[in-house]
Amino acid sequence: MTCVQALAEEMKARYDNDKVSVKVVDLGEYAVDDDQCQEKLKKETLAFFVLATFGDGEPTDNAERFYKWFTEGNEREPWLQQLTYGVFGLGNRQYEHFNKIGKVLDEQLAEQGTKNPHLSSLLCVCGGGWGEVEGIISFTIAKYVFNVAGAKRLIPVGLGDDNQCIEDDFSAWRESLWPELDKILRDPDAEPPRPPSPVAIPEYRVVVHGSADSTFKNPNYIVPNGNASFDIHHPCRANVAMQKELHKLESDRSCIHLEFDIAGTGITYETGDHVGVYAESSDETVEEAGKLLGQPLDLLFSIHSDAEDGTSLGGSLPPLFPGPCSLRFALAQYADLLMSPRKAALLALAAHASEPAEADRLKYLASPDGKDEYSAWVVASQRSLLEVMSEFPSAKPPLGVFFASMAPRLQPRYYSISSSPRLYPNRVHVTCAVVYGPTPTGRIHKGICSTWMKNAVPFEKSENCSWAPIFIRASNFKLPTDPLVPIIMVGPGTGLAPFRGFLQERLALEREGVQLGPAILFFGCRNRRMDFIYEEELQKFSEEGALSELIVAFSREGSQKEYVQHKMVEKASHLWSLISSGGYLYVCGDAKGMARDVHRTLHNIVREQEQVDSTRAEAIVKKLQLDGRYLRDVW
Ligand code: 2AM
Repeated sequence: MTCVQALAEEMKARYDNDKVSVKVVDLGEYAVDDDQCQEKLKKETLAFFVLATFGDGEPTDNAERFYKWFTEGNEREPWLQQLTYGVFGLGNRQYEHFNKIGKVLDEQLAEQGTKNPHLSSLLCVCGGGWGEVEGIISFTIAKYVFNVAGAKRLIPVGLGDDNQCIEDDFSAWRESLWPELDKILRDPDAEPPRPPSPVAIPEYRVVVHGSADSTFKNPNYIVPNGNASFDIHHPCRANVAMQKELHKLESDRSCIHLEFDIAGTGITYETGDHVGVYAESSDETVEEAGKLLGQPLDLLFSIHSDAEDGTSLGGSLPPLFPGPCSLRFALAQYADLLMSPRKAALLALAAHASEPAEADRLKYLASPDGKDEYSAWVVASQRSLLEVMSEFPSAKPPLGVFFASMAPRLQPRYYSISSSPRLYPNRVHVTCAVVYGPTPTGRIHKGICSTWMKNAVPFEKSENCSWAPIFIRASNFKLPTDPLVPIIMVGPGTGLAPFRGFLQERLALEREGVQLGPAILFFGCRNRRMDFIYEEELQKFSEEGALSELIVAFSREGSQKEYVQHKMVEKASHLWSLISSGGYLYVCGDAKGMARDVHRTLHNIVREQEQVDSTRAEAIVKKLQLDGRYLRDVW
């Protein structure tokens, strides 16, 4: 059960009377177009928004249309004046744009809200929850709306920080909500509020269909049919056509080049887009999970959200996955087994521990008193769900509990596509750094999707090749429409990915006889003999004229660290002359370190080249961003 669903349940329990009804919707499904958004919002009088921020301070996909409509709508209409609201943001303090989306929505709503004396039925709208992706925190957006009266901003914006414990942040925000809601939803003469009844641990009904034999076919994703449209909910099966290691022998790390075959699938993409990949957990991880659950992996089962007599089980369950399927398939495809468990998962585990000491310890870790211990023992130690389960051997949660309340759904991982459809219309190329390394407990953490890519068997090696459900996510990280406009690309490590696509596109244009403007690439890696990925290709782009200048910073060759931003400083006047005469600057890669440092460097370059103070330099950089000439694809 997600945090928002739990909140909705608690609201229902507290205020379930004839004045109040609670509904939960996904912001992406709230209204299909801008007019509908306005019409619907007009009717709401109390709304709670739970919004995530990701990438370069962007909303998640399902909030994008709403957020754009709301923040860019030029008319600040009086129709929002009846709305009372609260906002909780989901973010991570390590990132520059910590909770930007939640903060912006909160501020902009505050500019418009006023009081409304009418009290009507309560409608609560939301959807989704939280999940995690290697390197990226990816949350689903949720929204609550219900019709009652009240002040404009019911409570201050909550800023969830996944770097610490976002569940605690959410609980604190929720606790501050009740007294305010009581004021507007409760009759002052009525009895004191009922203490909330403990929320039951959500559980699917499980039906066992026997054992999966060798002829059993796992449920497939949409089969390529040449004309379907694909998205996160409707991915398309794509074969791995090619796979190779990009790092050289001397490297102790790994970076994979992988190509998905999209011929005949109906999938199309543009240079600069992202591909979402649903990978599978490794056999090793799945087998460990099977042992910890005490269940055979060939068990054929299905999950259901209703009781045997067809009545709803109540509570809010995550969406079902198709069945019957084998436990092996369900664990590999649908469960994130390597994330650190949320507190709700610890409580679910505690409920099924036969050893009282184990149950007590789990409950303590999930309790307010155990906050510091949870932070240290679970979060800081990066203990995975499986690792935690292995420390509590008496706890054997049934599958219905495990999939509903313990293992979050495995989320797709996003990659910046490293090819251009002008050269490769039938292939989507991915450039993926393999996540592999020890955690504080000594466990070797292997990223789920990158490990899958490292082990993938391409079609060129076997007809029985690896495949994955994939879909394309459009981005605005695009080349200028006029190919004569100068471009500067900054992409160390796998930040090179979209620029390889850009350069392929320019190569294709050049081969068609199109005249190109200058293109400079700043690439950074540790050492020429280890991780200078696509070295020969970059040289060819230079020789053929798609790339005018290749500038490489090697961070571990000399006695001093050389980073891309140091090279930018050396070229400051040239760079600034290109940008100030209409050029575009693109940055791709790590958001926490590199992109932040490159941003500072740009700021300094502007200050020095334009001979302006810091405030003015910031305004110039901001204007570049607003004009869409300083674009970032960061994670
Ligand atoms: P390092 O690992 O030697 O610190 C690709 O990952 C390259 O980006 C590596 O050479 C890495 O160097 C470098 N890098 C790490 N942090 C960076 C930062 N803050 N700015 C720019 N480059 C960085």
